[in-house]
Amino acid sequence: MERFYLTTAIDYVNGAPHIGHAYEKILTDVIARHYSQRCDDVYFLTGTDEHGIKIQKTAAAQGKSPKELCDENSQKFKDAWKALDIDYTKFIRTTDDYHENAVQHIFDKLLKQGDIYKHSYEGLYCQGCECFLNPKDLTEDGLCPDHLKKPEVVKEENYFFRLSKYKDAIIKHIKEHPDFILPEFRANEVLNQLEDIQDISVSRAKSNVQWGIDVLGDDEQSIYVWIDALSNYITALGYDPENSSDDFKKYWPCDVHVIGKDILKFHSIYWPAFLMALDLPLPKHIFAHGWITIDETKMSKSLGNVVSPTSVLENFNMEYPDAFRYYMATSAPCGRDGNYSDDDFKEKVNAHLANSMGNLLNRTLSMLVKYFDGEVKAEFKLSCHPELVSGSNSLMKKAMGTVQIVKNHFDNFELAEAGLEIISLVDATNKYVQDNAPWTLAKEEKMIECGQVLTNVLDIMCVIAALIYPYCPNIARDMARQLSFDLNTKLDDLTTDNIKIGKLISKEDIKPVFLRLDSEFADKTSKK
Ligand code: ME8
Ligand code: MG
Repeated sequence: MERFYLTTAIDYVNGAPHIGHAYEKILTDVIARHYSQRCDDVYFLTGTDEHGIKIQKTAAAQGKSPKELCDENSQKFKDAWKALDIDYTKFIRTTDDYHENAVQHIFDKLLKQGDIYKHSYEGLYCQGCECFLNPKDLTEDGLCPDHLKKPEVVKEENYFFRLSKYKDAIIKHIKEHPDFILPEFRANEVLNQLEDIQDISVSRAKSNVQWGIDVLGDDEQSIYVWIDALSNYITALGYDPENSSDDFKKYWPCDVHVIGKDILKFHSIYWPAFLMALDLPLPKHIFAHGWITIDETKMSKSLGNVVSPTSVLENFNMEYPDAFRYYMATSAPCGRDGNYSDDDFKEKVNAHLANSMGNLLNRTLSMLVKYFDGEVKAEFKLSCHPELVSGSNSLMKKAMGTVQIVKNHFDNFELAEAGLEIISLVDATNKYVQDNAPWTLAKEEKMIECGQVLTNVLDIMCVIAALIYPYCPNIARDMARQLSFDLNTKLDDLTTDNIKIGKLISKEDIKPVFLRLDSEFADKTSKK
């Protein structure tokens, strides 16, 4: 694998980022960091979606120009991703000049080749979705099922894209590539939606929507949000129909678009059709994640339960975002909905990161200092005395097996499932310590056995540090530092012999890698 290109959805900037936006960016960052351990060149794109009626109206209501609102809110997304250690390669804004120009050229090309045509139309427009809805998809009361708002009747002359022309090719592609849409259970939904797919509106009348990219040579129409937004995945790399950049040639087709389940239709039907019309290859995977609720309730401004990701870091007084990243990335089985609650968060990260993983490292290093002055002797190595201590070889086998299982899970974007495997390795390592009781071995003066148990555990801790790194980059760095382990080691180069012979650590250099979130903080948050 030489290069890996992945993207998030680009967020609407009519508000500040919430925990649902954060969930997606964390998932994508964890995937990006995992693949950085498997190939040399990972390109991670994120950004903000800044045009459309919703942003125009929000800005007007706040007495701002749309551009002012976009600048303000786009910065809030960047700040939040910084706080969460989202290490993207590029942040695109759809109001960036290069993007607007490329979108105009894309639209123009499709118009000239006949894939776009003008047509007078009446439809039901949902501003929340920024799209026209099919009357049969509305609730019994005639509301948008996602936004529970009545769509407005829009009668306009618009440009239309010949989506129907690509219907059969898309159905064929989905059927021939069962891993195109992941998780696979979502593919049927898309195939059903494709059954009655029609040509789609790709522009809005400027008399109704001013905040959009102009159609070249037509003063009365602006380009509709979805063709604008979806194109970001290629314009960010420097694509233009006339002249494509080296980055585009290098990174397209995309390995995975990470998106929410609510926008799967746009990514698995509209986007492939646009790409086919542009004669470009399709992305390899579209990974649709589920939705995050707060205390099992849908987040909404009217309920006042919208949680900002940075407020969680502040409430728990966390120096690093690692625990929050770990919790979010493992909050739901692949593609299913997840939930955030303060209590569950605290309980899970205390159990996994502090009690199981952090304590294991801390205890083991402390014993190495206590019994051996922090030194790993040559005769402690498993290779020197194979299976001197029972269960050593099977623990090593489990560790190497876990690396493979974790890789397989990531190939299907099963981050929670991979996380469980890592914790299961931590548990097995804890059990190995418990079973062999190095403190008893020391009391009985079986020092080589004692040293072997500790060294084996530290060897495995290096594997654990590497595997937990995508979720918890700062914790992993602290672990690696205390183990003198090179965290840049590629997953395929990991072995069970990672600890160097000689003095490893002194007492004063042993530091807990994760402190329990204690009840004091929990009380503080529940009183708020
Ligand atoms: O849809 N839980 O923007 P958006 C999980 N601009 N994910 C959530 C969520 C929640 N509670 N709420 C939102 C748009 N998301 C378009 C995308 S892409 C070319 C254009 C996810 O701000 C949502 O599923 O409404 C989507 O993937 C992303 O956040 C942005 O949502
Ligand atoms: Mg949305």
